[in-house]
Amino acid sequence: MLIRDGRIVAIGAANEIQCLIDADCEVVDAEHRVVTPGFVDAHTHPVFAGTRVDEFEQRASGVTYQEIAASGGGIQSTVRATRAASGDELVRAGLRYANWFLRGGTTTVEAKSGYGLSLEDELKILEAIARLSRETPLTYVPTFLGAHDVPPEYKSRRDEYVRLLIEEMIPAVAQRKLAEYCDVFCEQKVFSNDESWKILSAARCHGLGIRMHADQLSLSGGAKLAAELNAVTADHLEHTDAEGIAALKSVNVQPVLLPASVYALGSTRYPAARAMIDAGLAVVLATDFNPGSSPTTSMQMVLSLASTHLKMTPAEAMTATTINAAYSLGRGDQIGSLESRKHADFVIHDCDDYRELSYFFGMEHASRVYVQGNLAFART
Ligand code: NIG
Ligand code: FE
Repeated sequence: MLIRDGRIVAIGAANEIQCLIDADCEVVDAEHRVVTPGFVDAHTHPVFAGTRVDEFEQRASGVTYQEIAASGGGIQSTVRATRAASGDELVRAGLRYANWFLRGGTTTVEAKSGYGLSLEDELKILEAIARLSRETPLTYVPTFLGAHDVPPEYKSRRDEYVRLLIEEMIPAVAQRKLAEYCDVFCEQKVFSNDESWKILSAARCHGLGIRMHADQLSLSGGAKLAAELNAVTADHLEHTDAEGIAALKSVNVQPVLLPASVYALGSTRYPAARAMIDAGLAVVLATDFNPGSSPTTSMQMVLSLASTHLKMTPAEAMTATTINAAYSLGRGDQIGSLESRKHADFVIHDCDDYRELSYFFGMEHASRVYVQGNLAFART
């Protein structure tokens, strides 16, 4: 692979490339190890304050994620901590996770806001995401998720919060160009299909692309709504049925599957990945990194879960974490595969065979990670 100015110029057998190399070229020898594109993690919530280790411990003794949420914990406990944090504190926490993403071989992350739930706090999070993108080798693709939950001060007047989202927050985010996409947690007891429709339609009018948390905890018609709205992605889909899959296929909404959150919630209800692939959908796999349902940045873990629980082959899982994910972020022509003219974002894994990435689990394989041709991480 020949790289110049951060881009792949040519890729092929050594004898095809050798003749193109000039004397001052730096040569990187991958020593017969596996080389892949950098992972593209197309669904994460990477800017928040604190952790939820206390709730993790409660869940270990049998309390459910929904019970914790209903008693004011869950997303709301992270909202309290995130509101109390400064922008600098959020960036500091975010840098720690950025380092984790990179050392796992991830080079692009979609990043949702959603732990502020007020105009000021959501802007603070989106600005922290923009800073992380400038100050780390990772590329962050920002998504506005002001509709992650109804904040406590609006609990008895949720219509007003929906109005605030539509009339103030979405226009302010779009005007400042702080997000490319808008997402809604469409779920019973969170945002109804009607509310989701209104919020996402407003987002579209402001030029934002649409992603959706759909059918995660129950079958609520989220996938069908994503199709109706012509969303770019419908994410989670643990409860989506054949009708929902057919709806997604009818307008080619990309499913973003998040098996690490199923695993971390102790559930066995994995999404119907095979039916989606067999229907011809370009399935994406992502970590859903967040402090509640999926505290991991590990794409290796996702690859393992994809083969053991979603019955995806290692090749399908690699496709879903790279090129399909890149297309879901509108960057299929720039990243996600090693082809000429694309960014030289690639990983040298300490593996003999690419299938080892899915097979040996619970560890990281990336030994060197390059972003736009520059070494961004090296395992010592
Ligand atoms: O994708 N489903 C909603 N949002 C996150 C969880 C957020 C949290 O628990 O803090 C998810 O699983
Ligand atoms: Fe999520």
